[in-house]
Amino acid sequence: MPFVETLSDAVKPWSELYSHSKVVSVAVTFAHLGALLVGGGIAVAADRSTLRVAAGDADAERRHLLDLAGTHRVVIGALVVTVLSGVLLFASDVETFAVSLVYWSKMALVLALLGNGLLMQRAERGARWGALRRSAVISLALWLLITLLGVVLVEAA
Ligand code: HEM
Repeated sequence: MPFVETLSDAVKPWSELYSHSKVVSVAVTFAHLGALLVGGGIAVAADRSTLRVAAGDADAERRHLLDLAGTHRVVIGALVVTVLSGVLLFASDVETFAVSLVYWSKMALVLALLGNGLLMQRAERGARWGALRRSAVISLALWLLITLLGVVLVEAA
């Protein structure tokens, strides 16, 4: 595929540095997994709390909505690091990842995760608990599925 070859040639200096320097490959992979630990960890904990709030307990609901509002900035910050390190991982082996169905399925799920995050924030603002609980379940499933596809990418791409 000419586009893939052109892109692969364009990022050759980076892919050669990445494949010859353990320091660089460890640093980028750590950035990817560290951001997953922070962003995914906080998101999953918040989703669990959303599902544990007793329905109709106005006090608990109000407290949780305040907590939730404070988590998005950290999760979005961590996702920015995940995406930037992900682009560097992609550029380390364009010929493999650009034609990988696993890679593009993972990117589709990452977009779904971002979309679900927007729906979650909208449900929060309207204190629509049904929609909030649904988006928490979807978020939990997406974080796990994306992580699974990330590991499949390393092991089977
Ligand atoms: C929520 C978002 C994401 C999560 C949870 C995630 C998770 C992971 C995990 C767990 C791995 C395996 C790492 C290893 O075992 O060394 C991985 C690998 C990878 N990820 Fe992600 N990732 C995310 C987003 C992205 C994005 C947005 C990109 C690209 C723009 C990306 C590109 C890659 C690539 C190319 C690899 C394979 C690296 C290799 O073979 O060494 N990821 N990801």
